[in-house]
Amino acid sequence: MNAKPEAALLPLDVERIRADFPLLSRTVHGKPLIYFDNANTGQKPVSVIEAVDRHYRQHNANVARAVHTLGEEATASYEAARDAIARFVNAPSRDEVILTSGTTQAINLVAYSYALPCLKAGDAILTTVMEHHANIVPWQLVAERTGATVKAAPIDANGDLIVEKYIEMLTPEVKLACVAHVSNVLGTVNPVREIARECRKRGIPLLVDGSQAAPHRRIDVQALGCDFYAITGHKMLAPTGTGALWAKREHLMAMPPFFGGGEMIREVRFEGTVFADPPHRFEAGTPNIAGFAGVPAAIAYLEGIGFDRLKAYEQDLLAYATDAIESLPGVRIFGRAKEKEPVISFLLEGAHANDMATLLDLQGVAVRSGHHCAHPLMQFFGVPATLRASLAFYNTRAEVDGFIEAIGRVRKLLG
Ligand SMILES: Cc1ncc(COP(=O)(O)O)c(C=O)c1O
Repeated sequence: MNAKPEAALLPLDVERIRADFPLLSRTVHGKPLIYFDNANTGQKPVSVIEAVDRHYRQHNANVARAVHTLGEEATASYEAARDAIARFVNAPSRDEVILTSGTTQAINLVAYSYALPCLKAGDAILTTVMEHHANIVPWQLVAERTGATVKAAPIDANGDLIVEKYIEMLTPEVKLACVAHVSNVLGTVNPVREIARECRKRGIPLLVDGSQAAPHRRIDVQALGCDFYAITGHKMLAPTGTGALWAKREHLMAMPPFFGGGEMIREVRFEGTVFADPPHRFEAGTPNIAGFAGVPAAIAYLEGIGFDRLKAYEQDLLAYATDAIESLPGVRIFGRAKEKEPVISFLLEGAHANDMATLLDLQGVAVRSGHHCAHPLMQFFGVPATLRASLAFYNTRAEVDGFIEAIGRVRKLLG
């Protein structure tokens, strides 16, 4: 359910929203928590926590196996998560949504079930320099086995993808193209529609890593025009260990399973096994049933706010935080893309990112430091690590002020 047009114009009542997130009111080292590590994982509203709690208290059973009441309830709840995700990404069919443990499993599923069987020596997979390792390493693993290569499209100094270059690199050897919808380090929003259009012209399937997009923007896989879209639940208010791969039916029908086991077969004989149709073909074994019980509530929460309001609020906060960080002496900000989600990576002269993050934690501030699972991007900028403040709609300008004050105190400590 999307926000009504008039509701979309109303500003967010952030204090009310914050009251829905119990963890935000805790203290860390005796200081009020400032949680700016949302690109790493997001906090959960009461509705999600209660849905998981309710599952264990009232409905716990395995899915798709038992005919008893609890088994039917657990199965209905698990399948309701598929329906919610299918609606959330505007999938043409719920059967095109494979439930996974997150983006990493979703991308590996494409690597092993789609790419591995079709790649041969001389073929290539195209990705970009700004990707998370989850959108690089699985391709390297299947490339090693098949003799294919992995190519990476470049970015510019602002952290924008050089789209003309990406398109130029869509040569006939490329059998699969990949791109992050939003960079986890730079916040850059990539022009997925344009890339998908160019891929379609050349008959190259496109995989989009939507991990960092889904918490911030409406996803419409049909409008984007891609072939595969991966999301991870824990960054979009849902429990950890939940996620999904959406893929076009024509690909799923042709893909052999990646994991074998229970719940993914039609008939097993030692002479040969007949696999179930998608999506169950790709969901062997007992899934994260309790986690998926929280997914519809997470999606309902995001949609209840409405992505227009969410965007207006987050973009304002991003601008405010960027100005504040920019005013720090000796600061270097990484990522000034034309269109960004609320992620700010930076370094302060004379201060190691990990030292800063450790000392900020003592001030109650949670930010991530390190390479953010993006070694090639760190190499591009010539740094081993950055500090990353990643914001969500439940963060406030007052927290940004508190963050800047905490940085001032830490710098004094560091001399
Ligand atoms: C852009 C991007 N892709 C993939 C992942 C991996 O997600 P997960 O660990 O939830 O599978 C992350 C997580 O940080 C990410 O930011």
